[in-house]
Amino acid sequence: MTILVTPPSGPSRIASPITAPSVSTMPSATSATRTVPPHLGQAFEFDVAIVGLGYVGLPTALAYHHAGSSVLGLDVSEARLATIRSRAADLLDSDRDRLEEAFVADDFLITSDPAALSRAAAVIVCVPTPVDEYLVPDLGILRAASAMVVANSVPGQLLMLTSTTYVGCTEDLLVQPLVHRGLLPGRDVFVAFSPERIDPGNATVAHEDVPRVLGGATDTCADVADALLARYAPVHRVPSLAAAEMTKLLENTFRAVNIALANEFSDICRTMDIDVADVIDAAATKPYGFMAFLPGPGVGGHCIPCDPHYLLWQLKAKRQPAPMITQAMAEIASRPGRVVDRTREVLSDAGRGLRGARVLVVGVAYKRDVADLRESPALEILEGLRAAGAEVGYADHRFPRLTLRNGEVLDDVVDEASFAADVVLLHTRHSDADLSWITERQFVIDTTYRGADLVDRIIL
Ligand SMILES: NC(=O)c1ccc[n+]([C@@H]2O[C@H](COP(=O)([O-])OP(=O)(O)OC[C@H]3O[C@@H](n4cnc5c(N)ncnc54)[C@H](O)[C@@H]3O)[C@@H](O)[C@H]2O)c1
Repeated sequence: MTILVTPPSGPSRIASPITAPSVSTMPSATSATRTVPPHLGQAFEFDVAIVGLGYVGLPTALAYHHAGSSVLGLDVSEARLATIRSRAADLLDSDRDRLEEAFVADDFLITSDPAALSRAAAVIVCVPTPVDEYLVPDLGILRAASAMVVANSVPGQLLMLTSTTYVGCTEDLLVQPLVHRGLLPGRDVFVAFSPERIDPGNATVAHEDVPRVLGGATDTCADVADALLARYAPVHRVPSLAAAEMTKLLENTFRAVNIALANEFSDICRTMDIDVADVIDAAATKPYGFMAFLPGPGVGGHCIPCDPHYLLWQLKAKRQPAPMITQAMAEIASRPGRVVDRTREVLSDAGRGLRGARVLVVGVAYKRDVADLRESPALEILEGLRAAGAEVGYADHRFPRLTLRNGEVLDDVVDEASFAADVVLLHTRHSDADLSWITERQFVIDTTYRGADLVDRIIL
């Protein structure tokens, strides 16, 4: 079914074919020799279709639309489409404004109908790439979305994966199936990989100011994709699909390793009675050779806890060890357990036990100012505290109710003061968090390392 969010007359304009830009915003390997492929003379109704309108896909669709492209958004979930239509999607204020613009425009359409994909000059895939409970990549969603895109592709289209994935995935899920269908990349259709780099909840860097790394199945494919991406962001080209796929894995593995190091430093500093935040802030004054990473209660979201496992999984098949990455991921995974242990320690130092203690976890989102619970360490911490016999509650108005991995359902306590916590566990400090209800009688464990304003807070 196609759902128009536009006036009943529907999109009126015919999308302009993608043409290679005359000037690339970043140095590009083939910019001097770029040609417009003949198939791009074909007119499509939409400039771009975005497959998967989640945390990445919806802001991407809005960025393209804001930059002047006509946009078709496709999501298989009617519930997600309803959330978007009712303006309940978790978005930055700037993206909310763009969504309002899109709703009244005649060139923005959201639908659950895969057949609509053939109406777009470019199809960009932004579906989730999680790991399963054994930390093995779960490619089911990406496989299904890719198969759907291939089945509905038409000559002249650009197909671009942006989901984080293993090296070789674009070749396996797009190039080979297209060849099988008789559509040769670089001749009949165009295939590229450009990893998404969005940082949900971060209003300080505009989506369109973040350069896009791009690799094509052929030089012509890269030219076509470059022309599309350059409409709204600077482009940095790499010589292959594989190099583009590996770039994203390096970016997120880099973050994982550095977060693990920051966690280790926090433990080292605590042993030596130093506030690690003071040390990190000081080191960050060096204008080169240092990049600040903060320790914390663990990592969440759809990137750091998952992406390096795509690399580790693939390396197993090649019998290639990666001990540093393996160790970093193990350290990160153990962090929520460390929070539970620390809570036990703090109570024990005061002559009390964790069993029966009242512990309030404040902020459960995986990071500040987002309404995203995926892989949030808070879930594991709440479960660990429950298993140790604590009376737990959480306070985060973004989540009126949550379900732990063991199936237990908890409700937001709403009134933090009346919960009468023995221990306040500061997990995520949203910018609108009011902590004025905390009393001197309560232990405050700060897992954010950023609560210097909280009197007598105990650092994780
Ligand atoms: N969330 C982030 O911070 C972030 C940042 C950079 C990169 N990424 C990567 O971007 C990708 C997407 O992540 P996300 O956080 O946006 O996921 P998400 O879960 O928020 O959204 C994915 C959307 O895709 C839809 N979907 C699933 N299968 C589909 C199909 N076959 N056709 C159409 N729609 C389909 C789902 O209904 C959902 O609405 C992942 O690979 C992730 O690693 C995420």
